[in-house]
Amino acid sequence: MENVKQRIEELTSILNEANYNYYVLNKSKITDQEFDKYLRELEILEEKYPEYAKVDSPTKRVGGEVIERFEKVRHNIPMLSLPDVFSEEEIINFGEKIQKENFNPEYVCELKIDGLSVSLKYEKGVLISAATRGNGLVGENILHNVKTIKSIPLKLNKDIDIEVRGEIYMDFKTLEKLNEKRKKNNEPLLQNVRNAASGSIRQLDSKIAAERKLNSWIYHLPNPEDYGIKTHMEALNFMKDLGFKVNPNNRIVKNIDEIISFIKEMGEKRKSLEYAIDGIVIKVNDLDIQKKLGFTSKYPRWAIAYKFPAEEVYTKLTDIIFTVGRTGRITPNAVLEPTLVMGSTIKRATLHNEDYVKEKNLMIGDTVVIRKAGDVIPEVVRVLFERRNGSEKPFKMIDKCPICGTNLVKKEGQVDYFCTNVHCPARKIEALIHFTSRHALDIDGLGDEIIEDFFNTGYIKSVEDIYHLDKHKQDLENLEGYGTKSINKLLDAIENSKKRSVERLLFGLGISGIGDKTALMLAKKYKNLENIMNASYEELIEIKDIGPTLGKNIFEFFKDEKNLELIKKLKNLGLNFEYLGEAEKYDELITNKKFVITGTIDNYSRDEIKKILESYGAIVSESVSKKTNYVIVGENPGSKADKARSLDIEIWDNDKILSEINRLTGK
Ligand code: IVH
Repeated sequence: MENVKQRIEELTSILNEANYNYYVLNKSKITDQEFDKYLRELEILEEKYPEYAKVDSPTKRVGGEVIERFEKVRHNIPMLSLPDVFSEEEIINFGEKIQKENFNPEYVCELKIDGLSVSLKYEKGVLISAATRGNGLVGENILHNVKTIKSIPLKLNKDIDIEVRGEIYMDFKTLEKLNEKRKKNNEPLLQNVRNAASGSIRQLDSKIAAERKLNSWIYHLPNPEDYGIKTHMEALNFMKDLGFKVNPNNRIVKNIDEIISFIKEMGEKRKSLEYAIDGIVIKVNDLDIQKKLGFTSKYPRWAIAYKFPAEEVYTKLTDIIFTVGRTGRITPNAVLEPTLVMGSTIKRATLHNEDYVKEKNLMIGDTVVIRKAGDVIPEVVRVLFERRNGSEKPFKMIDKCPICGTNLVKKEGQVDYFCTNVHCPARKIEALIHFTSRHALDIDGLGDEIIEDFFNTGYIKSVEDIYHLDKHKQDLENLEGYGTKSINKLLDAIENSKKRSVERLLFGLGISGIGDKTALMLAKKYKNLENIMNASYEELIEIKDIGPTLGKNIFEFFKDEKNLELIKKLKNLGLNFEYLGEAEKYDELITNKKFVITGTIDNYSRDEIKKILESYGAIVSESVSKKTNYVIVGENPGSKADKARSLDIEIWDNDKILSEINRLTGK
């Protein structure tokens, strides 16, 4: 038995050393076959004798742990970000401010890694917690996924308690391979390395994170004094010695000139790096001076992040294609030879309108300069005329809708062309927008742009697809600008919309001439959708407010095969077809308005207030968004009150809501 224990220890240490050599030091000492052989041997032994498995066993890295939700983790020391600067002048400014405080420090320049920051905590040298930055004060526990990152030690060289911080990232090659696979599987491609990394780390199933082959650079020690460390450079070396992967591209510099040279040098080196960087971080080296400089409310005063300017890249304009917007507007779009710009592959860029293309003098086949700054949409900057060889084809504006072939119309004095055919498939987008709109199914998070985006990417082609979005959850989470949280919220909103009273569905179907009021009237009268569908034309036109045209519209809508098919599908998807009697009472100020309640109100519980408001057809939800009309703020409110203020949403205090309740209930 003692032999088994010893062998497990031996294998663990061989494999961990191999991992460290390969993933941290970038050198291989044993072959892949040898590694696999040892790993298998260890797996078999650990399965038989789990009591001997070590805390840092490499078998813990393969993934498999699935969590139900991300636990919150409070950061004892806030995880701050840095102020961004974009010019030499701002760097000089930064230096001058420090000199004004009578310091003349050395600085450490480092690469600014484009990933997501992580806080790692070790107890007696063993990794016990890994958390995202979150809002800086509270992050999410991502330990199950972090354990799969081979360059992050599960156990340190010393049995100490320590917290370190750094960046989790995905390198370019890994993203490329991942996208090749996704393409084969017909899955949408991940937009850039940062989103790919953060999408991967936000997986509940650590198998997925393990497959994504994430990596790390560690760059910050929040408690240096605990280890007698005096400078940031010492901290970097200390962390390196503990087994962390610390980026070698750092340098102590003595003045601003040296900072600028470092930036220039790394700006060149950047092109050959295997991972994305978006700038240079400049930190005061002396930790005592750091401490004296302290923090503003948001940032440390001892560090800044210089952001590289928008990268300009040459590529070929292979075609110009036209898209139809929801209003029928035609937009020319550049089709580009796929090119990597700041970690994203750019294949398309909007060209806005005919005049824009003509002003830039674009020809198909041209070599063009494209640019993308941060998360901003890519743009075609200019043509490289000197690269023209005569094979380029002139741009010609189309005169027929590319979708339905209808002649396009351009109004006097306007730049845009429009397709005026109301049955144009492009108009489907408009129908979708109508379906999710506030007086219809009211799906928070499915705004105009997102619908257009999801329509163009194929996730939502028709109303029923909205209710199938959950099948694409994982892909959606990885889309640029989304994340687990926002997608969960969206899917919840979609699920909730199924329960709404039928007049909303009736209005959402977009029957010509049916506004929300007529829909409500019909729902009240017929009680459910089936009854409305079965109503005869004669019966319908007997109703006050329904004339022959509207009667015909309704009657014919429910005779149309396609419409009936859709309605059947919606029924099967679980949408409510009944009139629920919401908004029995109508009040100008309350009905259809969105409320959020936070804190405690005198005499009423939040639930009681909710019921009163809902009986007047108000929508009371949990979270504040741009669409919220009023936030009721009682005693001891939560962060919702701050959010309301930051979004400029009208706040109702204790007295205001009490007087409204009195007004409504006639007290
Ligand atoms: S230091 C208090 N160093 O950039 C100091 N940050 O806005 C904390 N980042 O949130 C950050 N590379 O996610 C630091 N070498 C580096 C970095 C780095 C990337 C990220 C980090 C931070 C943001 C700064």
